[in-house]
Amino acid sequence: SVQTFCDPVLMQRQIRHWHRDGLTVAFVPTMGNLHRGHITLIEAARQRADRVVASIFVNPLQFGAGEDLDAYPRTLEEDQRQLANAGCDLLFTPEVSLLYPKGLAAQTTVEVPGISDLHCGASRPGHFRGVATVVCKLFNLVRPDLACFGEKDFQQLAVIRAMVRDLNMGIEVVGVPTVREADGLAMSSRNGYLTAEQRVQAPALKRALDALAHRLITEGLAQREELERSAMATLAQEGFVPDFIRVCQADTLAPAQPGDCRLVILAAAQLGRARLIDNQTVDLP
Ligand code: PAJ
Repeated sequence: SVQTFCDPVLMQRQIRHWHRDGLTVAFVPTMGNLHRGHITLIEAARQRADRVVASIFVNPLQFGAGEDLDAYPRTLEEDQRQLANAGCDLLFTPEVSLLYPKGLAAQTTVEVPGISDLHCGASRPGHFRGVATVVCKLFNLVRPDLACFGEKDFQQLAVIRAMVRDLNMGIEVVGVPTVREADGLAMSSRNGYLTAEQRVQAPALKRALDALAHRLITEGLAQREELERSAMATLAQEGFVPDFIRVCQADTLAPAQPGDCRLVILAAAQLGRARLIDNQTVDLP
């Protein structure tokens, strides 16, 4: 199985040895319940560095009151098996009391302004502060040369890139394309919350993104808000409670304006117990 440490001192001893030997280290932070999306990140990390470190930590600081912190699936042994098969060299599984010894309220936090307040950040206040803070702490413990994140969480990737740039962390951030099920549904640990019937409905989120992307390419941005409203209505008809579907500038995530070329459509919708997110980049001529 994969070498697993919950003690940061022992983990850092191993990583220090690798660095002394001139080896590069790539890092893949996760919350566990690993699927093929996570494993693709491990493979991307392996292609870019000599050693690969993963972490599994269900981070309480990024969950809001009433969210699924307690229900979040925890499957450590199966995760360890998958990591070993994928060639991960070290797994870090810290305890909550290690990362937050004084409790969540007393924790120094990392705030990435602007981008953290849009979209998912508006629906989940404090979420991206929790993400930036834990990723900063994990970066400081692991001290990787590079770190891999999925494009599935497009806004999260943008927040991490901004944090690394603004705080001069000197870590290369690699974005990895979204891994999907055969019917288009983006892989997610939260897909396990879906009933069999909801699982059949779930790919409608990706279909709504594809349809909206097609209309942007043929009709342009002039009617952006009308296109967004129509995509929301389609999702509602398919049994979702849509949170937002928004056409944004791919770099700033601000609402797209006529003349913008590099776009991303961000979507979030509740389906039963699952909050599903997905996105689709669109390049206009
Ligand atoms: P988690 O949801 O476990 O995701 C860990 C990493 O896997 C993230 O970079 C995420 O974008 C990526 N990922 C998830 N599903 C994917 C898919 N279908 N295709 C490609 N990549 C995928 O994201 C988090 O954990 C946490 O917020 C974390 C960054 C670990 C901080 O707590």
